Amino acid sequence: MRKTIIAPSVLSANLSCLLEDSRNVIDQGADWIHLDVMDGHFVPNLSFGPPVIKSLRDGISDVFFDCHMMVSHPWNWVEAVKKAGGSGYTFHIETTPEESQFFGLLNDIRAKGMKTGIALKPGTQLSEMLYDGIRRGLIDMVLIMTVEPGFSGQKFMADMMEKVRSLRRDFPELNVEVDGGVKVENIDIVADAGANVIVSATGVFEHPNPREAIRVMRESIDS
Ligand code: DX5
Ligand code: ZN
Repeated sequence: MRKTIIAPSVLSANLSCLLEDSRNVIDQGADWIHLDVMDGHFVPNLSFGPPVIKSLRDGISDVFFDCHMMVSHPWNWVEAVKKAGGSGYTFHIETTPEESQFFGLLNDIRAKGMKTGIALKPGTQLSEMLYDGIRRGLIDMVLIMTVEPGFSGQKFMADMMEKVRSLRRDFPELNVEVDGGVKVENIDIVADAGANVIVSATGVFEHPNPREAIRVMRESIDS
């Protein structure tokens, strides 16, 4: 049975007390911490990289760090993210158009002991290469972006649920993650489409009661 996973993105946390905010959100019921790494090239924003992940790992030993790599050269950071304490490494399919590069990177991530994830921007469709990777058992999770990657606090794109629905129909046990604009107000749409891994930044950190936001999200996905 696939599990419901709530993975708050700390991009909306107070970055000056990232460790404390991350611990709090775990105490409030979150399963994973979603870490948005941005290079100012693949997306028009900069966030943080392996040194910050390492500092966080030094303070939190046993939680899954879901690293969302919004970078143009994801093959350059596998080793550093693993060493820093990353648990899952999700790269964008747009960065590896060649099959050899795509499968090579998946194998490298696995060889280094992390879970593999593939992210799709809103304008990117499900493809034969992606399906091939899933069927071959090389992909642990597919991340469907529901905003253009780069910033927290954007509006949820409900039309992305088509992709979530297709993946869920074709792969009942696959981890399907949604990221961007997900909140208590639209969680039922995400649940209905079949996503089971929920990323939310502002929807958790700016909710007056984050514990309650996480509870409502989990209940919706579970039911
Ligand atoms: C956007 C990031 C998201 C972001 C989500 O590029 O990948 O993880 O932090 O923020 P919200 O939930 O506020 O849209
Ligand atoms: Zn993200």
